[in-house]
Amino acid sequence: MAAAFAEIGRARPLSLKTSREITVAVMGAGSRGQTYTEYGKLFPGTLKVVAVSDIQKERCDSMGRLWKIPQERCFGDFREMLAAGRKGKLADVLIVSLPDDLHYEAAMAAMRQGYDILLEKPMAQTVRECRALLERQHETGVMVAVGHVLRYSPYFRALKGALDRGLVGEVVNIQHQEPVQWAHMAHSFVRGNWHNSKASTPMIVAKSCHDLDILRWLIGRRCVRVSAEGSVALFRHENRPAGAPPRCTDGCPHEKFCPYSAINIYVRQHRHLYVFDLPRKFTSAQILKKLRTTDYGRCIYDMDNDQPDHIVTTLLFEGGVTASFTLDAFTPWGGRRTRVMGTMGYIEGDGTTFTLHRFDTGRSYPWSFKPTDEGNYKDSGHGGGDLQLIRDFLEAVDTRDFSRLSSSFDDSVEGHVMGFACERSRLCGRKVVVAMR
Ligand SMILES: NC(=O)c1ccc[n+]([C@@H]2O[C@H](COP(=O)([O-])OP(=O)(O)OC[C@H]3O[C@@H](n4cnc5c(N)ncnc54)[C@H](O)[C@@H]3O)[C@@H](O)[C@H]2O)c1
Repeated sequence: MAAAFAEIGRARPLSLKTSREITVAVMGAGSRGQTYTEYGKLFPGTLKVVAVSDIQKERCDSMGRLWKIPQERCFGDFREMLAAGRKGKLADVLIVSLPDDLHYEAAMAAMRQGYDILLEKPMAQTVRECRALLERQHETGVMVAVGHVLRYSPYFRALKGALDRGLVGEVVNIQHQEPVQWAHMAHSFVRGNWHNSKASTPMIVAKSCHDLDILRWLIGRRCVRVSAEGSVALFRHENRPAGAPPRCTDGCPHEKFCPYSAINIYVRQHRHLYVFDLPRKFTSAQILKKLRTTDYGRCIYDMDNDQPDHIVTTLLFEGGVTASFTLDAFTPWGGRRTRVMGTMGYIEGDGTTFTLHRFDTGRSYPWSFKPTDEGNYKDSGHGGGDLQLIRDFLEAVDTRDFSRLSSSFDDSVEGHVMGFACERSRLCGRKVVVAMR
């Protein structure tokens, strides 16, 4: 048992030797576009950005300068990049790191142009669009990797390794929690890009398609039926305290006592500042200016948000295996919590470490990732999953061996379909069958 357990701790080095430098076109030079392409700077000779598109000129120019991209390959709207690609692909692969509502259009057109794609999640805004993407991927034969970064993190890989080796016997039930963290909820899902489910995607898809994909992957069986409950408990207009002005910067009398105050989150606690594109050395005045001019400074109770701040779901998988998944905004920390109940053992994990308890011997086996195991490991975000994903993606493109990816596109679509089924159940109050066709 100890030997089997030691095996699962082995992770691959982050570095990669490709047979050539793989050229990349980036649609959306924001946070995700920058994160993935950083790999090429860490490991020169693997990845080179040769074209970029972003409607924010500074972001487009900044990536253009970083990679010395000729002006004619720096585009504004992604459709300009697609138009230029009609005469021939601009790069070996395309990274689609645009806002949620543009993924479908971009990916459908890019597949037609023959690009292998790293497509950010959520892949689309409806089940119908997800199915259409899958159909086109089958038709064109291109490779599509979805940004399910958790699958690539050493922690979840080890957890999956433990289950695949039968270390808990047969999996019977999993309890999985996604603690969003109170300030992250306020930042991204009340004030930020994902505050409205119709403009982006429902919370359970936007945030938790990762978790549903992870559950499907860990259990290794198809999900057949789901049910979900949840609502917006706090961030509602009627909870706005008397006298609160439209912006926290307008002299709100409640500002000092409100944890969700934009001044508290951004100026005092310096959280989530990456969205403001601030210079390396910034001042509070520069943050306050952003709060006066963007949604990030608005009263938390005065947004047109509709994303639930708590969701509870139950999921039934083939063979009677069950899982429950809970999303919670009101936690002091992020990082997924998972409990796996098997016929021969139990695993409990907190997103960084986990412990296997065996019923036969009564022994416990703790697992934690040691960066030295991997040599040049870098915690790139999502438990290291961000850069592990791009490494595997480049390797799959280089070798034309799509199995190097943790997830087939079919699997990724299934995880999304589960999410849309949960949302339907939450809204209609009934159990919903997960139908792939
Ligand atoms: N895999 C993950 O864990 C993960 C984490 C965060 C975000 N995401 C997803 O990645 C995507 C990007 O998120 P982000 O945090 O990088 O957002 P972002 O806002 O930082 O970046 C998106 C960029 O797209 C640009 N853009 C908008 N419209 C455009 C258009 N028409 N043409 C060209 N560029 C355009 C914006 O100017 C922006 O720079 C989102 O869909 C998000 O849901 C995935």
